[in-house]
Amino acid sequence: MTDKKDKVFIFDTTLRDGEQSPGATLNIQEKLEIAKQLGRLGVDIIEAGFPYSSPGDFEAVKLIASEVQGPVICGLARARKEDIDRAAQALEKGKKKRIHTFIATSDIHMEHKLKMTRDQVLKTAVEMVRHAKGFTDDVEFSPEDAGRSDPKFLFEILQATIDAGATTVNIPDTVGYTVPLEFGNLIKLIKENVPNINKAVISVHCHNDLGLAVANSLSAVVNGARQIECTINGIGERAGNCSLEEIVMILKTRPMLGLYTDIDSRQIYRTSRLVSSLTNMLVQPNKAIVGANAFAHEAGIHQDGFLKYKRTYEIMNPEDVGLLASKLPLGPRSGRHALKERLTELGYHLSEQELDKAFLSFKEVADKKKRVEDRDLESIVRNEKRTLETVSHYELENLQIACGTGLPTASVCLRRTSDNVYLKDSALGTGPVDAIYKAINKIVQVQNELIEFSVNSVTEGIDALGEVTIRIRSEDGAIYSGHSANTDITIASAHAYINALNKMITAINSGQTILAQKQEFKSNKGV
Ligand code: KIV
Ligand code: ZN
Repeated sequence: MTDKKDKVFIFDTTLRDGEQSPGATLNIQEKLEIAKQLGRLGVDIIEAGFPYSSPGDFEAVKLIASEVQGPVICGLARARKEDIDRAAQALEKGKKKRIHTFIATSDIHMEHKLKMTRDQVLKTAVEMVRHAKGFTDDVEFSPEDAGRSDPKFLFEILQATIDAGATTVNIPDTVGYTVPLEFGNLIKLIKENVPNINKAVISVHCHNDLGLAVANSLSAVVNGARQIECTINGIGERAGNCSLEEIVMILKTRPMLGLYTDIDSRQIYRTSRLVSSLTNMLVQPNKAIVGANAFAHEAGIHQDGFLKYKRTYEIMNPEDVGLLASKLPLGPRSGRHALKERLTELGYHLSEQELDKAFLSFKEVADKKKRVEDRDLESIVRNEKRTLETVSHYELENLQIACGTGLPTASVCLRRTSDNVYLKDSALGTGPVDAIYKAINKIVQVQNELIEFSVNSVTEGIDALGEVTIRIRSEDGAIYSGHSANTDITIASAHAYINALNKMITAINSGQTILAQKQEFKSNKGV
């Protein structure tokens, strides 16, 4: 225990590792919006993408480097000249920039994936760190799969890359295999066995395959690591990465650890909602810190205790993560001004045109519900933004459903925007949503497979807004998500499906399917 606290740097990789979650693909404007919010949140470093992997990633890193001030902007690069050059090119306009280069160091990766010897890997790592230093002083090196690497080789490569100029050495538990005691001990051993370790910051990057990403990151900082790589809502490859909101609130809530971050925790909730909504990845209700139930007290004994003294059952203030109590409840009689005020309090700054649209949707919801909650408002705003941002090839004009004990039937009318033609069709289905999707398919005629359909109630109660999230897979395997909210879930289902189809049609028309890009990258570069 100590009075003097040490800073832990927060390296956010939502836009790189987080975006690697299947179906979480973001467009460039969405990435910029998230990066700006990460700046308000106060992260120290934003890993904005992997510039060599696709033209989309390159453009996103370039845009973020030139537009987002405050955090260091980082681009990922394999330990190859062409990757590093591309990252440097993307970061050129950035005031504070970092190149993060990596190569695998576990025997299993070196033998089966890289087909390289230890000596070759070490030599390549050193050369590439030196090469990256030609573009920026701030160079991070990651020995991929460090968690399963031979510690002796790890010490050797860390020492050599620090000598070559790496200012941060990141220890990834790439496959989420380690356990907290073991991972913490690895950090301790690195501190004891790498003679020049004081010249670099030790970072950790933990995956969540065994549900231990946060615990492993915590154990690492307790043992001397001073940078944590993490993502909002813990999204990322497979089971995801260390969740930013959880690790930050652990360090804030438990000062006895003697560690702090520069995160403005009051921005956490808003950032979580933004990322969830733009990636269409729902946050589970019982998720720590940002789940809908994280500050809800259900049991009678808990409610009684909480009302007598809130610390009996609440270890954090909801306001500290940005959950703001509403001063003016919004309902059917609330006006445009009250709506604007509340949205501003929640961090949404809408243009007059956006506000007009949001107000119409708000009125529609308020007519059906007695009270419009903050989560309803967020859902309304995101819905409006999403509609404005997606290129619309088809729009829902009319929907009629007949269902009961017989086979459900749906009749759908869509407007094709390219020639303003109204197209109608109907279909039978196993349920109302199935009937709607079959009728839409008859009109749009684009091959796809529905791989995920989920309905989530935004708030409690029979009149709650229902949010529908779907994912569809195109013939070439690319995944597109669609999202919509409405008090009628059949309407939300139709809108969500059309939203995903519109994205898929845009990709097909431009010949830039996500899978095509990834395959090109993989086959050209042998990853
Ligand atoms: O999981 C991993 O090893 C990575 C590296 C690129 C740091 O994401
Ligand atoms: Zn990773």
